[in-house]
Amino acid sequence: MVTENKYICDMIISLIGFMGSGKSLYGRLVAEHYAMEQIDLDDFIMKNEEKTINEIFESDGEKSFRKLERRYLNELVETKNNVILSLGGGTPCQEENWSAIRKTTSIYLKRTHHFLFHILKAKKANRPLIKNLNDDKISELINTMLVSRAPFYERADHVFDAYGSKIVLANRLIRKLDVIKSKRL
Ligand code: S3P
Repeated sequence: MVTENKYICDMIISLIGFMGSGKSLYGRLVAEHYAMEQIDLDDFIMKNEEKTINEIFESDGEKSFRKLERRYLNELVETKNNVILSLGGGTPCQEENWSAIRKTTSIYLKRTHHFLFHILKAKKANRPLIKNLNDDKISELINTMLVSRAPFYERADHVFDAYGSKIVLANRLIRKLDVIKSKRL
């Protein structure tokens, strides 16, 4: 990992992509490198609502979750700067969220079905859309949802192939952001 800390100038970077694409992990690592703040939209919702995402889905349903997601996304985009926002897997798939996402520099962390499946089957407990599904159903859901969601993810300003070991991937993402930053100066 590159150790030098640099400020990435006035910008909001949003990381988007399917569940399990590394938005939170790489958001944290990249933010650390640039000494920037990092906010995970799901964590922000949970903190403000004092409920887990599972609880929100269970007590109020997905529709209510999407309303909260939209409200907090707008709040963050309007009030924050020099921040990396790790959005939820479904955030960019709601058309009404794009007016906010367009105000950020968005990066799609792109992974294949195979890669996502191996991560998600082991990390489903906090994800209401898959927590009660067996491996076959998770695989099916990734297939169907990737098809319907990819056109939204592909709208991002930048597409980043999110493969490789943790350190290699983090460094590649930092190099990508260095290039994005240099083009803005
Ligand atoms: C969702 C993804 C989750 C979370 C919620 C819905 C989705 O975020 O926002 O469970 O619709 O794909 P992660 O992508 O961080 O798992």
